[in-house]
Amino acid sequence: MYKILEKREIAMRNTWYKIYAPHVAKKVQPGQFVIVRAFQNGERIPLTPVMWDREEGWIVLIVFTRGKTTMRMALELSEGDSLLNVAGPLGNPAPMEKFGKVLAIGAYTGIVEVYPIAKAWQEIGNDVTTLHVTFEPMVILQDYLENAVSRHIVEPVKLDPRFDFKVNMKYVTKRLVEKVRELLESENWDLVFMVGPPGDQKAVFEVVREFGIPMRVDLHPIMVDGTGMCGACRVRVGGEVKFACVDGPEFDAYQVDWDELIHRVGFYSKMERIALERYLEELKAKGVI
Ligand SMILES: Cc1cc2nc3c(=O)[nH]c(=O)nc-3n(C[C@H](O)[C@H](O)[C@H](O)COP(=O)(O)OP(=O)(O)OC[C@H]3O[C@@H](n4cnc5c(N)ncnc54)[C@H](O)[C@@H]3O)c2cc1C
Ligand code: FES
Repeated sequence: MYKILEKREIAMRNTWYKIYAPHVAKKVQPGQFVIVRAFQNGERIPLTPVMWDREEGWIVLIVFTRGKTTMRMALELSEGDSLLNVAGPLGNPAPMEKFGKVLAIGAYTGIVEVYPIAKAWQEIGNDVTTLHVTFEPMVILQDYLENAVSRHIVEPVKLDPRFDFKVNMKYVTKRLVEKVRELLESENWDLVFMVGPPGDQKAVFEVVREFGIPMRVDLHPIMVDGTGMCGACRVRVGGEVKFACVDGPEFDAYQVDWDELIHRVGFYSKMERIALERYLEELKAKGVI
């Protein structure tokens, strides 16, 4: 059991969990992730340690409330409760190299994965600019990033109440692409790195490719075991099948089959929607909402 030492909502739909998990805290490196099972018979979901203390044995996870599991975590878990399993650290650490001038981009909660990597890259002598594009009420980690890298840029997008979340997301993509183009046109870069929804990663990659700048991405296919056994996270990279959990999660954006990844990530969306709707009905029946 992995005790929740601290839990708080740090921005709209973004919850901070400080978890006692000494075996993870002891070994985790920037770029790695854990697989969490919060509830008995519950789904296993990949999440990223954002910060950690090796001595005190805790890690911080920041979780975006997306579907049933992340909503259950936000609603049903309190400080003092425990997660059932925290398996990890899993995946490969991000390469710690001197790239030079790096633009590290996080869309939405993707910035939580950018933070430990960008901080470590800056510490070994890179000149790192981080860019966070998200909805205004979802801006997170601003102070942490301002202290960790050469320059942190936040591009907050207003949520237009006339439209649903999905329609609003198009404005985030638009701002993201415009801002990246502006930065690539005005400055010289040695590497672009990005974490976020694959549709946004592809849109940004298409701009970066025009400038011929190397680009690396952390990929988010569906994961189940996180150890290369189940095949759920397979992605095509450079024409070969790779497992994001053991071969990644970081890959060369120029080699990724983006259309296949986007298709596979959306494969269970109908079932995910049904699971969430049923859960919301249960909550209504219990008078929780
Ligand atoms: C390596 C990695 C690190 C991640 N780190 C973070 C993080 O630090 N913070 C954070 O908020 N999110 C992170 N995610 C995404 C997170 O795992 C999903 O948001 C979560 O699984 C959604 O679960 P759900 O039941 O609430 O949503 P669902 O409604 O079940 O799913 C909604 C969306 O999440 C995707 N998804 C569902 N289950 C999984 C799964 N088991 N693995 C991967 N994607 C899934 C689906 O493709 C779908 O697009 C990470 C994903 C990966 C692969
Ligand atoms: S999550 Fe099962 S093979 Fe990667």
